Amino acid sequence: MGVPSLRKRLVAGNWKMNGSLESNRRLLNEILARPEEPSSSAQRDAAQQPCDVLVCAPFVYLPQLADALRDSGIALGAQDVSVHAKGAYTGEISGAMLADIGCRWVIVGHSERRQYHQESSAVVAAKVVAALDAGLTPIVCVGEQLADRQAGQAACVVQDQLEPVKALGSDVLARIVLAYEPVWAIGTGLTATPEQAQEMHAQIRAFMGSGELRILYGGSVKADNAAELFAMPDIDGALVGGASLDAQEFLRIVAA
Ligand code: PGA
Repeated sequence: MGVPSLRKRLVAGNWKMNGSLESNRRLLNEILARPEEPSSSAQRDAAQQPCDVLVCAPFVYLPQLADALRDSGIALGAQDVSVHAKGAYTGEISGAMLADIGCRWVIVGHSERRQYHQESSAVVAAKVVAALDAGLTPIVCVGEQLADRQAGQAACVVQDQLEPVKALGSDVLARIVLAYEPVWAIGTGLTATPEQAQEMHAQIRAFMGSGELRILYGGSVKADNAAELFAMPDIDGALVGGASLDAQEFLRIVAA
């Protein structure tokens, strides 16, 4: 084992388009009731490491979460942000609005945005800038489709997605977090093996040329596979979809 990384771990829950006032209240109560005692001394040590924890909720519920999470040590994030700062953009939500109601983080370029809303990598880079301008930290998602991986193109596809973000320069890279989420692993129960994920994370880190950059893994992360993923030297945490809707699963991932 090498020298432990100084990059702070991060676990982000992505609730996607799920929830209601009532179910959110129950889920948040359970999360804030906090962990059962970590079961092993290794887990106990891990739990004491500084680790950013945040929840990314649908826009309309952000004020509810901002209230519930105040002073909890769990931060608040949104799932998307407009490229525009303000004006005649019906239906859009600006970074300043998100900051105004207590968000500090925002997911940009999630594969579901790229796929269902035709977001190009250039748009994603513009959203990174919009988020940073508003004082938010963007979590920038990249990842290949199954066909790309089968064709041996996974690394090329991910580099193409990263190119416009890399072009923003090293000052920007110091202020963002990346999430590698192979599309074939999202919501499918198929997780990249720790070795597959580590290989891609190392390639991304080399391509971006930053040892400090935090790179999360996402795609069917569960309590049962989190520890082996987090043991990899270039995996700095997780972006968690389905399992973040279950308080005990989410807390066990954080503990890992
Ligand atoms: P999943 O989603 O954990 O449900 O696979 C991850 C994500 O889309 O961020």
